[in-house]
Amino acid sequence: MKMAVVGAGIVGLATGAGFADLGHTVHCVDIDTGKIAQLSRGIIPYHEPGLEALVMRNTSAGRLSFGHDPANLLQEAELVFLTVGTPSGDTGEMSLAALWAVIGRLEAWSASDTRRIIVIKSTVPVGTAERAEARLRSRLPDHCLVDVVSIPEFMREGSAVRDFFEPSRIVIGTSSEETAERLTQLHQRLPGPIMTTDRRSAELAKLAANACLAVKISFANEIAALAEQTGADYPSVAHSLGLDPRIGPHFLAAGLGFGGSCLPKDARALVRMADEAGAPQTLVEAAVRANAMLPLRMVRKLEAALSDPSRRKVALLGLAFKPGTDDMREAPSLRLIAELNRRHPGITLTAYDPEANHVARKMLPSSITICDSAEEALRGADAAIIVTEWREFRQIKTDDFKNWMNRPIIMDGRNALDAAALNAQGIVCIGVGRLPVI
Ligand code: UGA
Repeated sequence: MKMAVVGAGIVGLATGAGFADLGHTVHCVDIDTGKIAQLSRGIIPYHEPGLEALVMRNTSAGRLSFGHDPANLLQEAELVFLTVGTPSGDTGEMSLAALWAVIGRLEAWSASDTRRIIVIKSTVPVGTAERAEARLRSRLPDHCLVDVVSIPEFMREGSAVRDFFEPSRIVIGTSSEETAERLTQLHQRLPGPIMTTDRRSAELAKLAANACLAVKISFANEIAALAEQTGADYPSVAHSLGLDPRIGPHFLAAGLGFGGSCLPKDARALVRMADEAGAPQTLVEAAVRANAMLPLRMVRKLEAALSDPSRRKVALLGLAFKPGTDDMREAPSLRLIAELNRRHPGITLTAYDPEANHVARKMLPSSITICDSAEEALRGADAAIIVTEWREFRQIKTDDFKNWMNRPIIMDGRNALDAAALNAQGIVCIGVGRLPVI
């Protein structure tokens, strides 16, 4: 099948290269000419495991190509995936500007009478696919047959390629039985369960999934706070919760909360959409509020362990919103840094991330020293905060903490380290949801 993908972000690239790998011919377009120039030279602008090899393999086989002008190339595609971003607007709503701009370009299809399928993969408010189809149908001549379908994407950053080839589920939202049949066949080679439904349900299924994950994480963080106040050990509580198959072990890790370009934005958008629809989502709203409080909680805990932070040097280990990516969008590190600077204007901050340093250099205030190694960040520090649970930080030896740091106080914001072992060797290590040993 001839396909086009519009929007060469991680989802678009993994989807395009994935379908190319399954034997289809895929043209991937993006308005960012710099990104397309990089991709055409084989440079992948993201840290995403397995993506470079997948892209290279399919570009060299001639099944995957890149361009920045959708008009002509889209003419030939029977199926177009829309994977453009839907960022937060000013009041929490999703901005669909990029999506409508692409739909506008598709109106140039007037010459053809082939039936075309447009798949919205971007996360969008309920009703968007229907609106897009109504708009196209009102502007295209009658002989142009177009179906706009919702197949939401559930892949995660850091495992996008694996999630493409091993999806948890494929949800096809369409009003046409014929299109449902074609798309079911298209996805048949992927192992995940395939379900078909209407477009609105598919769109809400995606928003609800991210909102559910956000609620689960905020629940974990609130129970962890309760554990701290009552002398219980949250990791043990989480372990027990996870053994109940009705709850499951995933997304119960307490820490500095959820970030990234999806969970926070989608939860806010759901709340906004629900208010407008007259079905307020009080749980999701509370989860967003609880998440926003976590950096302040961490700073307060630091204040309890370290006297006069304004005159101290604190090292931040990890800046990306989670391990396995260089993405810092809505990363908890940003809120934590803002809170540290607000409450302690004189504080000296150093920071190190194994992958996101190049992003941090553009995003963070110049007062923060971005270091090339954990050692450099930790040297002479009075305290360290584990912000992102990169494996590398688990491998730092106890003696190194002692030798490098001025005084080894570690605030483990992700329960990544073996606090008991560190405590036993005289290092103050304060986790989340655990009793501090000072
Ligand atoms: C999320 C969803 O997991 C994907 O299914 C979805 O497709 C994607 O958004 C999207 O909408 O595009 P992603 O943003 O890559 O994927 O990140 P997650 O792995 O979900 O992590 C989100 C945040 O939650 C991270 O900051 C992570 O550190 C935090 N988290 C996760 C916790 O604080 N505790 C946990 O137990 C799990």
